[in-house]
Amino acid sequence: MAWFETWFNTPYYHILYKDRNFEEAENFISLLINDLQIPKHSKIIDLACGKGRHSVFLNKMGFEVLGLDLSEESISQNKIFENETLKFKVHDMRHPIYPEISKMKVDAVCNLFTSFGYFESEDDDKKVFRSVADVLEDNGFFVLDFLNEKWVKNTLVAEAVTTKGNIDFHISKRIEDQHVIKDIVFKDQGEDFHFYEKVKLHTLEEIGSYAAEFGFERVKTYGDYNLGTFDRDTSPRCINVFRKL
Ligand SMILES: C[S@@+](CC[C@H](N)C(=O)[O-])C[C@H]1O[C@@H](n2cnc3c(N)ncnc32)[C@H](O)[C@@H]1O
Repeated sequence: MAWFETWFNTPYYHILYKDRNFEEAENFISLLINDLQIPKHSKIIDLACGKGRHSVFLNKMGFEVLGLDLSEESISQNKIFENETLKFKVHDMRHPIYPEISKMKVDAVCNLFTSFGYFESEDDDKKVFRSVADVLEDNGFFVLDFLNEKWVKNTLVAEAVTTKGNIDFHISKRIEDQHVIKDIVFKDQGEDFHFYEKVKLHTLEEIGSYAAEFGFERVKTYGDYNLGTFDRDTSPRCINVFRKL
């Protein structure tokens, strides 16, 4: 099994990242929707939605939302949030969304908080862009919130310990072959655990060229969750906004 099929499905991923919470998601989504002027009642897909923090808020703002994620655990927990205009489904983003998963085309697709860069093959990366292009209406938005590879390289902390609840997570990071690899080692109730994350450090240009290949044009690039201007050297994020032509 690939690392992303197991790690995100454990409770430990959610414990480690519990500070990346609903509040952070709500601030960002409010700014984003306002800046892109996406009309109320538009249909939005939250691709790789995790615990649904962006999906739930988008729905509260009046959008019709479908949250998709590979993690069965997260999707089954998200079911409590469902209503007429908010649904969650298990889905692998390398597979087509339209028309099997969503019978309708949508106005926007979001892929947020580094939910890309996991796959070994470029072919799989491209499948994501293809499936997003196929499910979007013309002029629909694709928001791909990715890390800024240069910032990751410039600010890498090789070793750290983060305590969340009763667990000390020992985290080591390294760059290898244009990937950032994060080893996560901890003990819980006497049992030893070791997980890792491995994310390909796609550049702005690589992401832009995938997008162009599948018929998107770049309309904006933000450098952080306050929608600051992207700066290659100093921005923590590389938040790409594309429009389907
Ligand atoms: C870093 S988390 C972000 C989750 C969510 N967007 C958020 O901001 O809380 C990445 C998510 O991608 C999901 N994921 C990983 N591989 C996937 C795939 N092939 N298809 C769909 N989702 C996937 C994981 O299960 C996980 O929920």
